Amino acid sequence: MSIVKMQHVMSNEVSKRSFLSRPPEPPANILLNDPMNSIYIGNTKIFKIPFAWNFDNVTNPHIAVVGITGAGKSYFVKTFLIRANYIWDTNAVIIDWASEYKAWVQQSGGTILSLGKGDYINIMDLAGMKPLDRVKQIMGAFEILTDIASYPEQRRLTEEALEQAYANLGFNLAERPPEGKDAPTLKDGIALLEEQLQSGGYQYPAELENAIYRLRQFARPGEDFFSRKSTLDIEKMANSGLVDIDLSGLSDDTFRALAALFILQTLKEKMRFEGFAETKGIKTFVVLDEAWKVASDDRSDAITIVREGRKYQFGLIVASQNPTDINEAIYSNVGTNFILRIKFERFLDYIQGSLNFSPYIRSEISNFGVGQAAVDMSFTTSMRFPNIFVLDRIKGEEPLYIYTINLTDVLTQAEVSANLLPRDYQFEEDELKNKMINYNVSGDIINQLFKKLDSQGRTINMLDFVRTLYSYHLRVADIIALLKSMSIEDLLITRIISSSGVRNE
Ligand SMILES: Nc1ncnc2c1ncn2[C@@H]1O[C@H](COP(=O)(O)OP(=O)(O)OP(=O)(O)O)[C@@H](O)[C@H]1O
Ligand SMILES: [Mg+2]
Repeated sequence: MSIVKMQHVMSNEVSKRSFLSRPPEPPANILLNDPMNSIYIGNTKIFKIPFAWNFDNVTNPHIAVVGITGAGKSYFVKTFLIRANYIWDTNAVIIDWASEYKAWVQQSGGTILSLGKGDYINIMDLAGMKPLDRVKQIMGAFEILTDIASYPEQRRLTEEALEQAYANLGFNLAERPPEGKDAPTLKDGIALLEEQLQSGGYQYPAELENAIYRLRQFARPGEDFFSRKSTLDIEKMANSGLVDIDLSGLSDDTFRALAALFILQTLKEKMRFEGFAETKGIKTFVVLDEAWKVASDDRSDAITIVREGRKYQFGLIVASQNPTDINEAIYSNVGTNFILRIKFERFLDYIQGSLNFSPYIRSEISNFGVGQAAVDMSFTTSMRFPNIFVLDRIKGEEPLYIYTINLTDVLTQAEVSANLLPRDYQFEEDELKNKMINYNVSGDIINQLFKKLDSQGRTINMLDFVRTLYSYHLRVADIIALLKSMSIEDLLITRIISSSGVRNE
């Protein structure tokens, strides 16, 4: 039985078949937008068309960025935010899990809130909200982060105590607060529960004790990041240019997630309150980089922002190494997906399943270098053209220096012609430096090595690379660990080490 069958078709039929008549890129008029009303990202790979992003022709302004570590996610986000700020005066609030944006925000003259390093957020701060609504939000965050939902009585006691804390300071629970009036803190709520416990009038003291215990984890001395007067004007957060919420100083992920949820809740409220804006562009981008707990929970306000953001000109940018950490409601609803380098088959399967792209795009993605990306957009037009295309490179504001370690001196002629193994490994400068730092290479040695690399066109043969490190007194075990971290196969590493002649003293 033959697999290929001949078929008679007319030329007009043939031309309808997109694989013949349409190159795998959207037409230029879709990619090229008015430079004063769009954000330039880079040129397309095939036709080198400058791609400038605008949300007018996509279903919504939200963006997902995925890719392995070092692929260029944060770099893209920074480039994007800077240009959005320049073009539309867009504000940004960055929920910065690992302090990746802090230095950059500082350089750009933005505002930084470093929790756990001298800054505080009072999660009872109203930022213009009614106390009843804020209490509901706080309880919502506790439901995501603690086991409180399984204990209805404790939940009720906690909620009442928080409401009472506002009432005691003279707030009207159902009204917007007067400007400038200081909110209570969790400590006031805890004190109320303690009073109730001591007065002995309550039937189930164990419930009270547990409710107090749960709240106290957010108010212990030294860990009371959320129960002191806020050091940032929360109300102005969405309209303050670039704001970095640096969470790296917090001691665990629950604290980080609480801060992130609080910020999202406040921004959501702000967005709804300010209502529709007539201005063009986006008012505020909210960035979640690696905040998986917050990006993955169904109850998180990240989802509300995705659902309602467009009409208020609020955009969400989620960046993650692992696409399955992003809630499906977010991932399948973002208007634009930037897919940077992805190695893991499981992640590729997931993305391909949800975005439905060709094997060609899949193989491109797994072979991307730093800063290369496939862009998938949900266009609103009914015209038919591919909605995914490849960018040559995200053209950012910093130069990119690529270093190459050549394997041809290690591979046999047969291996080189069989083309089954990579012939070289390429790294971006910082990425290679970071790897070395991780494997105990000192700053001095790194500088010497890079001087050598720069003098020979940023290229080195593998054996020379290993011998050079060895001549700098790097231990063989560290050299091996470094090679492993470059995803070189064990067998090949063994061969590299023995051919280079280095050995443990
Ligand atoms: N398009 C690009 N042009 C120039 N340099 C880039 C580009 N993309 C990334 N880089 C550089 O590559 C390095 C790694 O990029 P980046 O920190 O953005 O990676 P990442 O995907 O955010 O990684 P992680 O998941 O570890 O946070 C940085 O030094 C950055 O300056
Ligand atoms: Mg990053």
